[in-house]
Amino acid sequence: MAKMWEGVTAGQTDSLADDFNSSISFDKRLYKQDIKGSMAHAAMLASRGIISEEDCRLITSGLEGILTDLESGALAFDLSCEDIHMFVEQVLTERIGEAGKRLHTARSRNDQVALDLRLYLRDETDGITQLIKELMRALAGQAEKHTETIMPGYTHLQRAQPINFAHHLLAYVQMLKRDCGRLSDCRARMNVSPIGSCALAGTTYDTDRAMEAELLGFDGVCANSMDGVSDRDFCLELMSALSIMMMHLSRLSEELILWSSWEFRFVRLSDAFTTGSSIMPQKKNPDMAELIRGKTGRVYGDLAALLTTLKGLPLAYNKDMQEDKEAVFDAVDTAKMCLKVMAPMIDTMTVLPENMLKAAREGFINATDLADYLVRKGMPFRSAYKISGQIVACCTEKGKVLEDLSLEEYKGFSELFGEDLFPEIDIRNCMEKRTSEGGASSASAAKQLKELEI
Ligand code: ARG
Repeated sequence: MAKMWEGVTAGQTDSLADDFNSSISFDKRLYKQDIKGSMAHAAMLASRGIISEEDCRLITSGLEGILTDLESGALAFDLSCEDIHMFVEQVLTERIGEAGKRLHTARSRNDQVALDLRLYLRDETDGITQLIKELMRALAGQAEKHTETIMPGYTHLQRAQPINFAHHLLAYVQMLKRDCGRLSDCRARMNVSPIGSCALAGTTYDTDRAMEAELLGFDGVCANSMDGVSDRDFCLELMSALSIMMMHLSRLSEELILWSSWEFRFVRLSDAFTTGSSIMPQKKNPDMAELIRGKTGRVYGDLAALLTTLKGLPLAYNKDMQEDKEAVFDAVDTAKMCLKVMAPMIDTMTVLPENMLKAAREGFINATDLADYLVRKGMPFRSAYKISGQIVACCTEKGKVLEDLSLEEYKGFSELFGEDLFPEIDIRNCMEKRTSEGGASSASAAKQLKELEI
């Protein structure tokens, strides 16, 4: 198609250069935001008498028609246009003539692209927040059923102390809650309008930026026109928040992979969220969890790519910035997909409490409680720690657990031991005694659940 600047430059651009320069193949997804932005712009121009009411009416109904036709499929994107902004303006002008040519008064594509992206990502941020909440609900739903399900809590992937499964899941709920907080912070800074910054220096027309911002649901306007067109912090902040969120999903995925292995057997993932092997008939592979873990790197990559793109750019707009979209779209699409899969995968997983309990019984995870018992009888903690270590070593040698030794055997290590020891090292008691705020008792898990606002 003919270039807008034809007549200004003498030569034709090479078709390779056109393809290289074009962004419509990926920015076409901004069509709705671009059209809404243009409607607001026309309304503002008319309110200031910069265009006539009649032109505004023609532009608005023309844009409405384009929106309807794009959505019904009656109008296809013309991929020979450089970008979505050029495409919409071109179709509008084809359809309504002269009035269409007045729309681009007092604006530039530089502020259009910044505007469209903010509008688009604002909605995506809200959508992602809802998806996170769904995952939180899925985790809380499982947690509700398992406040009394004992399992070993780990450090260094070594069995450490008794916890319940709900407590473990609720740790992830806290992470996701912070993720929602980060998204909401990021949304607040994102929600200011760059439109009216124009190419970089504002405009000589008597525009009403506040009106345009209000029509589009922004909380205010960017205070500096150069910043308005060159700022992509809102993309970076969103991608940072998504990277952290993906790191959380990846850690959860890693646990699901471990827990569903034959080595642990703590959970069984539903057939709907696992795959078989093409050669080994016995296999049930946690592909979805592995892919979420894998895609985490991809979202970090998107963030790193845009940070790197922006780091050397002089103000204001540079074409390098066109690279923002594929990175941020990919991060958004990937994060959404992962959240959409993770929630039902958690929802449908079968928990195997027997196996968790068995692992809890075998790992000397009551050894801290044994030491604490001696401390309560008056022994300094370090000495109690040492004796408890010796008892664990003795048990390991005999193939026993702490609960198996007789009082006689205990007395061989310290005269302080009495019959009241046994309830103190009972695994369930050990878990239930952890009543400190945020601790691992089932009462604490129940309280965490109760206080949860999703
Ligand atoms: N397609 C461009 C982008 O995505 C829109 C802004 C172009 N501005 C310009 N002066 N070339 O960044």
